[in-house]
Amino acid sequence: MQFFTHLEAILKEKIPHCKIQMFQYFYTKYKKGNVLFEDTYNALLFENPSYISTCTVVPPQDVPKRSNLTAKEGQIVLVHAIAHIEYSAIDLALDGAYRFSHMPKKYYDDWLDVANDEIRHFLMLEELLHELGSSYGAVNVHNALFEASQRTQTLLERMAVVPRYLEANGLDATPLILKKLHKLPKSEMIEKIINVLSIILEEEVEHVKKGDVWFTYACEKEGVSSEIYFEIIKKYYPQGFLRAKNINIEARKEAGFSCSELKHMAHKEVC
Ligand SMILES: [Fe+2]
Ligand SMILES: [Fe+2]
Repeated sequence: MQFFTHLEAILKEKIPHCKIQMFQYFYTKYKKGNVLFEDTYNALLFENPSYISTCTVVPPQDVPKRSNLTAKEGQIVLVHAIAHIEYSAIDLALDGAYRFSHMPKKYYDDWLDVANDEIRHFLMLEELLHELGSSYGAVNVHNALFEASQRTQTLLERMAVVPRYLEANGLDATPLILKKLHKLPKSEMIEKIINVLSIILEEEVEHVKKGDVWFTYACEKEGVSSEIYFEIIKKYYPQGFLRAKNINIEARKEAGFSCSELKHMAHKEVC
């Protein structure tokens, strides 16, 4: 079994459960050392996200808003939105492993581990969607995460943007959603959503940390200072850190952000 050829087939697979099965088969072989790295291959540039035939893609402003979380409809919108982030994150992690060749083996171990986590996250949320009488693809989605991966074709930019910006933003956003959910009247479904989001929040720290390790590696390889991070983010997300948001200092520190970076993000001394 060949590494890049197989990853390409998994990335191209459009049916979520086929993709997941293909990955699990590949991952088991990889863990046993039964996958060989090709010396040369040409990574494809994907024009469309793999969920194109499962989900209806609309501009971000047209994605249904998360309202009234005590009603089933509101819960479906929330769970679907996060399930979509997780599903997109599967392809993002796989693409990270697929796109950059001749990296240390640990790099591929890391991003396949992340893909495996994202699959688990997606499946937990998909189960909740089914309990709510819905399914993945039932709500319109945007393709912002896919576009981010399309635009970042160097290791340095990819590691800065995907794990170290987009996934790190999740560390800030999830506690706010959890806070909202905790304030609602207790129900079995709300408890289940809280439980799943708490697991995801805890595990995402490790993904950002892996991104931090490989971002530092890319900086050293390119001979640039890690301060280039803010330049890259500003290039793709001009509004990125302009205003102080609810920066999750503790989680971001654990994930490798330095105190001076956190100060830049929070616009005040934080550690
Ligand atoms: Fe995740
Ligand atoms: Fe993640």
